[in-house]
Amino acid sequence: MGLDAIEGVGRDPKRGGYSRHVFDPAERELREWFVEQAQHRGLAVRCDRNGNLWAWWGEPGRDAVVTGSHLDSVPGGGAFDGPLGVVSALAAVDALQAGGFTPSKPLAIVVFAEEEGGRFGVPCLGSRLLSGAIDPDVARRLHDPAGITFAEAAAEAGLDPAGIGRDDDALSAIGTFVELHVEQGRGLVDLGAPVGVASSILAHGRWRFTFTGEGNHAGATLLGDRRDPMVPAAEMVLATRIAGSEVDGARATVGRIVPNPGGTNVIASTVDVWLDARADDDHDTRRVVARIREMATEAAARENCELTVVEESYGDTVVFDSGLRDTLSAALGGVPALPTGAGHDAGILAAHVPTAMLFVRNPTGVSHAPEEFAQESDCQAGVAALATVLGRLAG
Ligand code: GLV
Ligand code: MN
Ligand code: MN
Ligand code: MN
Repeated sequence: MGLDAIEGVGRDPKRGGYSRHVFDPAERELREWFVEQAQHRGLAVRCDRNGNLWAWWGEPGRDAVVTGSHLDSVPGGGAFDGPLGVVSALAAVDALQAGGFTPSKPLAIVVFAEEEGGRFGVPCLGSRLLSGAIDPDVARRLHDPAGITFAEAAAEAGLDPAGIGRDDDALSAIGTFVELHVEQGRGLVDLGAPVGVASSILAHGRWRFTFTGEGNHAGATLLGDRRDPMVPAAEMVLATRIAGSEVDGARATVGRIVPNPGGTNVIASTVDVWLDARADDDHDTRRVVARIREMATEAAARENCELTVVEESYGDTVVFDSGLRDTLSAALGGVPALPTGAGHDAGILAAHVPTAMLFVRNPTGVSHAPEEFAQESDCQAGVAALATVLGRLAG
């Protein structure tokens, strides 16, 4: 199917699965692999000024039919989230070329940079930059856990950090965008269908809560004398579950906590807690976050700690273009449409161009973990569906 060609790249023996982060050696190796694969098919590859790779079948131009996804992963992620959309795009081009198809519109495969936000914290960074959804100054200053800024990493990867930001040339070239992705739940399993189309994406965002107390000695400081930020941080984790449960359909997660300095015998001076919150709409999402913030503020006050909250990324509910969705569904003989709680570059682009997504059944229903899976036959069905759709849209 193509994924076997990259199965050895970026494996994470400690966490299991894959850790492939933008511009790290594994992700760069995948980029090189993609360039070779695209060139092998006669596609002309270029990297845009935001680090997104484009492979063009025919002359780049307006009203292009664009497909693709991303090659980066979350820490310890699965093999399919991202790469399946890229290898399926290459395989769909193979199928079209083998069938003697000549596109009457430009056709391109795109690989977006830093979709997961696994290194610099903001998901869909490449598509946000391209579409102007993030201030390039803010993006330049984002830093990874080692303190390397996005500007520095981009420069190291051969980009001009001064040139990142809204790319009207790239954006206006896209006529239609279709992203194929492994499903990140059990919707298609329950429906008994190998392939479906996306109807919507939940409103979602990320917030960094920083609790500040007083660093001190774990043995010499009496409990009553402490200002320990780990205590309100722990209460915030529970508040996240409570507040999430209060709103129908909401999801609220703390998946990352960083105490500073992080020593067993050290009372932390600060603790950063990242909140990922999602719900049906803006109102519900904001309601969940506000409630968590209220409880975290009370917890911080009880421990005589300070709390600051920064919104690191946010996106309102996305409803995919219904006309395009109907076109896809009809071309595929009527496949089911289903919503998703996961974010995608397609969700960012949907604000600008008609956009659709194809999902491939995931029998485990698990994603962002090594157990993520799709059967070979379902992946093949995904490629066939994508080829049909691209042929219809670009024919
Ligand atoms: C990205 O995959 C996200 O939904 O967090
Ligand atoms: Mn993902
Ligand atoms: Mn993805
Ligand atoms: Mn995603």
